[in-house]
Amino acid sequence: MRHNLSEINNIIKDRRTVYPEQFSDRQVHKEIITNIIQNATWAPTHGMTQPWQFKVFVNEGLQKLADFLGSFYKANVPSDIYKEMKFKKLSTRPLLAPAVIAVGMKRDPKKSIPEIEEIEAVACAIQNMYLTATAYGIGAFWASPKIIYNPKINDFFGLGEKDKLIGLIFLGYPKDEWPKGQRKPIDQCTEWVG
Ligand SMILES: Cc1cc2nc3c(=O)[nH]c(=O)nc-3n(C[C@H](O)[C@H](O)[C@H](O)COP(=O)(O)O)c2cc1C
Repeated sequence: MRHNLSEINNIIKDRRTVYPEQFSDRQVHKEIITNIIQNATWAPTHGMTQPWQFKVFVNEGLQKLADFLGSFYKANVPSDIYKEMKFKKLSTRPLLAPAVIAVGMKRDPKKSIPEIEEIEAVACAIQNMYLTATAYGIGAFWASPKIIYNPKINDFFGLGEKDKLIGLIFLGYPKDEWPKGQRKPIDQCTEWVG
């Protein structure tokens, strides 16, 4: 055994989505955010393309993000599906978090790796972020409102037209108890052969 297995089992099982409404006012220090991003970059990456890109919103950046998401929604969502509640959520939720990290997938110009694998690599990076946050006692929320997949949103996040915004990761300390989770037993999703 090279590592403490019970520690990693505990961290994986303890990782929970904590919603911004459940965050306390406690700040998340820059060193912690840096470590979370550092660990993200140790995710597997086919062909070593390392397709992740991070944009960190803190302090007045959170207001900029909130304003942008709200105005983008208003300007780009057709009136027949526009919902005032959705607009309100997009334009206020970032203000409930001490930090939001936008995680993007940068498409390799050579397209040497199928796009799905680049997205998978970024999803692995996000799981590393989640697990690192858990170790600090910080809750995370992977938000994927539909607008993030509209390529017109890319520019604000420093992404090009071939890139994809994969998620907005909200970070914060929970103000109440750490949430409990549950999963179905693995015999419901596993088949053994041999
Ligand atoms: C790709 C992806 C996108 C997600 N997007 C959202 C989202 O937009 N809104 C939301 O409430 N939860 C979102 N989640 C979080 C899930 O709701 C959450 O993981 C699920 O409820 C299980 O809870 P747990 O993370 O605490 O185990 C997303 C999760 C993944 C993997």
